[in-house]
Amino acid sequence: MIHRSILRFAGARYLWWSLGLVLASAVLYVTQGNTQPPNGGTWQGYVLGTVGALLIVWLALLAIRKRSYRTSLGSVQGWTSAHIYLGTTLLIIATLHTGVQVGWNLHTLAYALMCIVIVSGFFGLYAYLNVPDLISANTGGGTRAELFAELFDLDRESRGAAQKCASEIAIAVDSSVARTAIGGSAYAQLFSGDASFFVKSDGTSSALVRNADQQGVVDFVAERLPRAQKGAEAANLQQLIVLLCRRQAVLRRIRRDIKLRGWLKFWLYVHVPLTVALVAALVLHIVSTFIYW
Ligand code: HEM
Ligand code: HEM
Repeated sequence: MIHRSILRFAGARYLWWSLGLVLASAVLYVTQGNTQPPNGGTWQGYVLGTVGALLIVWLALLAIRKRSYRTSLGSVQGWTSAHIYLGTTLLIIATLHTGVQVGWNLHTLAYALMCIVIVSGFFGLYAYLNVPDLISANTGGGTRAELFAELFDLDRESRGAAQKCASEIAIAVDSSVARTAIGGSAYAQLFSGDASFFVKSDGTSSALVRNADQQGVVDFVAERLPRAQKGAEAANLQQLIVLLCRRQAVLRRIRRDIKLRGWLKFWLYVHVPLTVALVAALVLHIVSTFIYW
């Protein structure tokens, strides 16, 4: 996991390298145009394209560097800091290489893939810098396993407390615990909340009712409270409501934990496969420009 200091690594060394590279590219770009407008086919265009392609290959190699623990080729922090700054310069270097001549062709496909990889990189950087704090604030520094242990205790205690109440309450609580769904598809993990159901019965008929965020079953039990006889029945219902609300809070924290960790990883499913597609499109771009030379 990367840390805030990644952007200031070695006195923000790679920020200065990147600014130098952008300046040199801009100088190359403006020296074009005497015989033809700036484009990828001038010698300056070739230099800018070659620098861009080499950068892309080097950026892609981070996948290998991250996993090779025995190499002495710089620290992973240094590589990642350079990756972020030099990766961003590509937006300018590649744009200058193209001479801002884009069309519906293979060359522009390579360019578009590069832009998507870079934008997803920005997203990843933002997530890596901010989401870990949100995760520990949500779990109070604890682990997800601890939250699940608390949930299982509350499941058991709520079911036990519901057994002391009327049968429709026991059925509602039992079914709400049994039908609680956590996680699921990637979409469910990243976006959706609790869409489970519980069984609402009135002694003669029963129906499945939406239990949005466990509020359905809490309201169902709370509605019985004003009608309860004073004494044991009211006390049992109150104890059950407290347990159900605690259970609802723990479930919310588990779902938020899943969501936050999902967002922390999700962008890599764009960044890495599109890097592979980018390298393939780039090879075709370079080969095709040499074929039509
Ligand atoms: C060794 C590296 C590279 C070489 C030799 C190279 C070569 C060329 C050449 C010769 C052109 C001019 C084609 C023409 O005017 O018909 C060109 C244009 C272009 N290049 Fe590259 N390129 C390289 C790297 C890159 C990179 C890294 C990108 C972006 C990911 C890129 C994207 C483009 C685009 C979008 C154009 C404009 C195509 C058009 O006019 O429609 N190139 N490149
Ligand atoms: C065309 C440009 C880029 C390419 C080809 C590229 C490619 C890659 C690759 C292959 C990885 C390794 C992923 C893995 O194995 O887990 C990676 C990681 C990463 N990239 Fe990029 N990237 C580019 C630009 C960027 C930019 C502009 C940023 C941010 C502004 C960025 C941020 C990151 C981050 C934060 C990681 C994760 C590092 C870690 O897990 O320690 N990338 N990138």
